Amino acid sequence: MAEISSETRFLHAIEMGLGAWQWGDRIVWQYGHGYSDKEVKEAFLASLSEGIRFVDTAEIYGNGRSEQLLGQFLKQIEQPVLIATKFLPFPWRFGKSAFPRALKNSLGRIGLESVDLYQIHWPTPLMSIDTMMDGLAECVRSGMTRTVGISNFGQSKMVAAYSALARHKIPLASNQVHYSLLHRNVEKNGILARCKELGIRLIAYSPIEMGLLSGKYSVEAPPPGSRARSYAGLLPRLGSLLKLMTEIGQDHGGKSNTQVALNWVICKGALPIPGAKSAAQAQENAGGLGWKLKDEEVARLDQASEAVTG
Ligand SMILES: NC(=O)c1ccc[n+]([C@@H]2O[C@H](COP(=O)([O-])OP(=O)(O)OC[C@H]3O[C@@H](n4cnc5c(N)ncnc54)[C@H](OP(=O)(O)O)[C@@H]3O)[C@@H](O)[C@H]2O)c1
Repeated sequence: MAEISSETRFLHAIEMGLGAWQWGDRIVWQYGHGYSDKEVKEAFLASLSEGIRFVDTAEIYGNGRSEQLLGQFLKQIEQPVLIATKFLPFPWRFGKSAFPRALKNSLGRIGLESVDLYQIHWPTPLMSIDTMMDGLAECVRSGMTRTVGISNFGQSKMVAAYSALARHKIPLASNQVHYSLLHRNVEKNGILARCKELGIRLIAYSPIEMGLLSGKYSVEAPPPGSRARSYAGLLPRLGSLLKLMTEIGQDHGGKSNTQVALNWVICKGALPIPGAKSAAQAQENAGGLGWKLKDEEVARLDQASEAVTG
């Protein structure tokens, strides 16, 4: 395990965050149908009162609405909150100066002078890793972000990004990737191990598999919108995993499937950032903290998930 740099240590101390893709997104999450500004604000406040102090947003979420809402909410609270946002590599954005320009706009929407983590949302073939990292380095030097990270980078690109930033004497803080009991690629392709080795925080997105691991969806009651199609193949196979999660949750004083799913991610050494559409969901998610699955339970969950996902 690598020494964690002093600049990025704060990220390793965070056990769980709150994802803000839901805030304003109509395409995947049907913002405005069943939940809206009021409910996401309540979810944010509930998370804070449960001790969650890290919010992950992006300029693309709700076309800037997520960052704007976050800015509004931050003005109404006293507590400090750690903020991560992301650069979207639009095809017409190239050259390192695109990064500080985009970050300045994000800061304007959030109403802050700097964020804690600025991530590139996904790698683009239109820019070299060196150019992307030069751009992120400019953001650190300008004082507009405390640390920088990447998202959806495979292992070789991640290591190249780490080395490119090292030439600027800047640590690569994080790689935000899809990781849940139903999506364990990062264990198989070596990214999780490499992150630990290099002191990079693995931030796990979709840790409840977009609601599926809560157990509330089934073939008879599929999730709404685009999730119905993307998860049509997985839904009929979930039964045995969900049953085991419920059994294990009971052995821990009645933890829900969602809480077991989140605790499993934490036990693997990653930082889950579940999204929530209501105070009740946010509160339940925070209950994934404060207890720990036994190694033997993690192993049984691994086995059951392997049987579902192959
Ligand atoms: N970097 C990237 O490319 C990337 C990609 C995806 C996500 N992310 C980030 O990761 C965050 C989390 O991922 P995600 O939002 O895709 O998926 P997720 O956290 O696995 O699932 C969130 C969804 O699950 C349902 N849910 C949440 N809490 C629940 C609870 N306690 N009980 C029952 N259902 C619950 C809600 O939807 P319903 O109530 O509608 O079921 C909610 O919108 C995002 O908000 C975003 O910040 C990043």
